[in-house]
Amino acid sequence: MLKGKCSVVTGASRGIGRAIAKRLAKAGSNIVLNYRSSEKEASELKSELEDMNVEVLVYKCDIQNINEVSEMLKAAKEKFGKIDIMVNNAGITKDTLLLRMKQEDFDSVIDVNLKGVFNCLKEITPIMVRQKGGKIINLSSVIGLIGNAGQVNYAASKAGVIGMTKSLAKEVGSRGITVNAVAPGFIQTDMTNDLNDKYKDEIKKNIPLRRLGEAEDVANLVAFLASEESSYITGQVINVDGGMVM
Ligand code: NAI
Repeated sequence: MLKGKCSVVTGASRGIGRAIAKRLAKAGSNIVLNYRSSEKEASELKSELEDMNVEVLVYKCDIQNINEVSEMLKAAKEKFGKIDIMVNNAGITKDTLLLRMKQEDFDSVIDVNLKGVFNCLKEITPIMVRQKGGKIINLSSVIGLIGNAGQVNYAASKAGVIGMTKSLAKEVGSRGITVNAVAPGFIQTDMTNDLNDKYKDEIKKNIPLRRLGEAEDVANLVAFLASEESSYITGQVINVDGGMVM
C-alpha cells in the first residue's frame, strides 16, 4: 500500500511513535526514525524494521530546534529523494493543577508539543509543495478537545495542534497536500504508565469499549491517513478513544 514511500516519524523510539513506524513499514514505507535520546531503542527498532524489507534512516534530533529539524529532513531527502508522509508524534506531559503549575511546566510542554510541531510543519511544507503532494498527520489528543484537570499546559498544546492542522489544511489543500490530526484517548504507553490502577479503572468506566487503547489502534488510523485511500480527507480530527469522546 505504501511501497516505495518515505515516512518521517518523530519520537519514534517508543510508544505510539514506535507502533506507527512499524505499521507504516509493514505497509511497505521506508522510514526516517527520529529520536531525541533513546539511541539503543532506536537502533533496535531500525533492525526490526529492516527485517520487514524497508530502508531506515535513524536520526537524532530535538524537534524544539528548527535547525535540527531542517537538517533531518535534508538528510531524509538525500537518502530517499523525497518525503511523502510526515507524522508529528513526539510529545511530552508535565501534569499538575494550574495552582501549582510553574512557568517552566507550561513553557516546556508548549515548546515541544506546539512549537515543535510548528517547526516540523514549517520545514516539511515547502518540501511537499515542491513535490506537489504529501500527507501530514499530527498527533493531538482528546484532551485538546475536552480538557482535563491537571493538564492546562498539555490541553492548550494539543488544542493548538488542532488549530494548526485545520489552518495548514486550508493553506495547502490546493497543492495536493492533506493535513489531518489524530486524537487518541487513553493509550497504554510510558506516558500513561504512571497513572495508578484505581484511576485507570475510573477511566475505563467512561469508555464505551471498556478498555484502554493500544498504540497499534492509533497506528492503524495513521496508516490509513498516510495512504491514498484517505485522499479526500483533510483538516479533520479523528479520535481513537474507544468512544470516550463523542
Ligand atoms: P511517549 O512518552 O511514550 O513517547 C513520546 C516520544 O516523543 C518519546 O520517544 C520521546 O523521546 C519523544 N520526544 C519527546 N520530546 C521530543 C523532542 N523534543 N524531540 C524529539 N522527540 C521527542 O508518549 P506516547 O504515549 O507514545 O505519545 C505519543 C504522542 O501521542 C504524543 O504526542 C502524545 O501527546 C500523544 N498522545 C498520547 C496519548 C496516550 O494516552 N499515550 C493520548 C493522546 C495523545
